[in-house]
Amino acid sequence: MSRKKIIAGNWKMNMTPSQAVELVNTLKPLVETEDADVVFCVPAIDIIPVIEAAKGSNIQVGAENMYYEDKGAYTGEISPAMLTDVGVKYVVLGHSERREYFAETNETVNKKMLKAFEYGITPIMCCGESLEQREQGVTMDFIRQQVKVGFLNVTVEQAKTAVIAYEPIWAIGTGKTATTEQAQEVCKAIRECIAEIYDEATAEAIRIQYGGSVNAVTAPELFAQPDIDGGLVGGAALKPDFGKIVNWK
Ligand code: PGA
Repeated sequence: MSRKKIIAGNWKMNMTPSQAVELVNTLKPLVETEDADVVFCVPAIDIIPVIEAAKGSNIQVGAENMYYEDKGAYTGEISPAMLTDVGVKYVVLGHSERREYFAETNETVNKKMLKAFEYGITPIMCCGESLEQREQGVTMDFIRQQVKVGFLNVTVEQAKTAVIAYEPIWAIGTGKTATTEQAQEVCKAIRECIAEIYDEATAEAIRIQYGGSVNAVTAPELFAQPDIDGGLVGGAALKPDFGKIVNWK
């Protein structure tokens, strides 16, 4: 079975709404492709203008976070219904920056995963080890925990549609991409973990991205690996280079 690549930009806390529209207009003609799903995950306030600006293109729009309740007294949060109402299809969950600065845990990520599926939003669930964990040799123990708890009570049919982003923390925003071998090795192990939780068919269907300093130079080799189904791209998603990454072949 061949999985369609999914290449997503993670804008993080960048781009005002007017800058966002300008960027989408610049990137629109550059990210045209039939070979991959192209997703722009953007700050909440940019979602509506980006959806407007992306009309008629192959760009799909995602959020960078979401709360796990339907609605209510949760000042400052964004609900899944708010996202689906304007046409959001994807949500990044459990990014290491949210785990580090905003107290995101495997348990809250799991609650958000379940809620996203309930609303038909595809989660891009991030996992990945710190440099210290890699040096201590506990990379896979740590990631297996993230994946197992993140997918608790997610049904087999839902899991097949999910996206996992493997992002080693030491490679994010550092210009230090994991080697192709390191990235492939962990993505393969994540797939094996999914096979253990579910079955081979689910492991074959689920899409696993690599993220961490992906750029137009490193993307082709990374995306050619058997277990790497695309990328979650930070810094380079804000530049015309993103067009080259999307058309990596
Ligand atoms: P980067 O960010 O490409 O700037 O390293 C990736 C990410 O955090 O998703």
